[in-house]
Amino acid sequence: MTVFKNKNIILGICGGIAAYKSAELLRLLIKQGAQVQVVMTQSAAEFVGALTFQALSGKDVRSALFDLDAEAGMGHIELARWADLILIAPASANTIAKIAHGLADNLLTTLCLASKAPLLIAPAMNQQMWHSEASRENIEILSNRANISLCGPAEGEQACGDTGPGRMQEPAELLACCANLLETKISNNEQSDLYPLQGRRVLITAGPTIEDIDPVRYVSNRSSGKMGYAIAQAAQQYGAEVILISGPVTLAAPENIERVLVRSAQQMHQAVFQSIAETDIFIATAAVADYRPIKKIADKIKKNADKLTIELIKNPDILADVAARADKPVTIGFAAETNDLEKYAVDKLKRKNLDMIAANKVGESAGFDSDNNELHLFWHNEEYDIGYKKLPHTSKKQLARQLIDEIVLRLVAKS
Ligand code: C5P
Repeated sequence: MTVFKNKNIILGICGGIAAYKSAELLRLLIKQGAQVQVVMTQSAAEFVGALTFQALSGKDVRSALFDLDAEAGMGHIELARWADLILIAPASANTIAKIAHGLADNLLTTLCLASKAPLLIAPAMNQQMWHSEASRENIEILSNRANISLCGPAEGEQACGDTGPGRMQEPAELLACCANLLETKISNNEQSDLYPLQGRRVLITAGPTIEDIDPVRYVSNRSSGKMGYAIAQAAQQYGAEVILISGPVTLAAPENIERVLVRSAQQMHQAVFQSIAETDIFIATAAVADYRPIKKIADKIKKNADKLTIELIKNPDILADVAARADKPVTIGFAAETNDLEKYAVDKLKRKNLDMIAANKVGESAGFDSDNNELHLFWHNEEYDIGYKKLPHTSKKQLARQLIDEIVLRLVAKS
């Protein structure tokens, strides 16, 4: 991965059992050609020895804020300016809380405050600590900061014997997160554009559709709308004028976003086509029902017959219809699959004439109705084959921002 060549990375290590995995992470970063300065908190030193990190990075490990010798070399402000990226892995609940509230009581947290570099945080903690109200609030604060990205945590068995979210993301996944950030954030930042979607209109579909059978029954699916709403918010924060066309969900309308509420696929189709002509980017996250009952029965169906057949007819494919327009906007589709993710996603990209597709596996703790997800992006690249990037498992809010970064980098900057 050439993105790491000549890049200066601060690797912050906090106190946690996952700190032993940071040695492998450091090795991977160095192998990719990055310059890495390791900064350990005091409690990190309780778990791992500085000597390992010094040997792997070829640099003295820094940990003290008030170290005369170290400051005489590269002072902390200089170090903060040196960094192209700050990666904290593992990031403890304590350090996350400090960063959320702007504390600067050790070298690592001071660097976070003093640097303009993107900050990538890989949380690692006991699942109960992760679920605690305070951690939820702190993560929410970090999720809303433009220069901060979160990678993980993963779910599974924990060192303490618990099972749940809070495991540090694996080194290879973290490396992928760093590469994504270096590629998108830094190149977008180099254009010093805080609002890369200023002046663009983005149309987003979100949520499920409901197809009525009779006045009390319907056909629908488990979509919560969370992904689409997060994308709408991210696009708005990047300066876009956003129209969100939403099926029935329990989410509140995001601030400063025009929301059009619809119920059925046909209504969604109509609402999209009312605004499509002025649209620069169309992102279809909605889980549109593929079929609807041929006709809605006027009165509630009675439980008389032993068998009941409801005939369904195909709904219009909103995404395909948008992509078929002569004045097609930049068009991004979603694909939720249970198997053969790449095959189905690439097929959809080509068949529906899309510019990019974001695919995810539907399963436990990801996809429908979850707060987290993992996305696999496919697009047509310049060599006329298929580009691929994985956005590792994290919150939908984070993924939304990362997806918009990718759209800006690969599709909008070129249009
Ligand atoms: O073909 P499939 O339904 O799997 O494609 C999923 C993508 O197409 C999603 O982006 C979804 O929002 C969009 N879609 C649509 N209209 C439909 C069905 C799917 O816009 N009727």
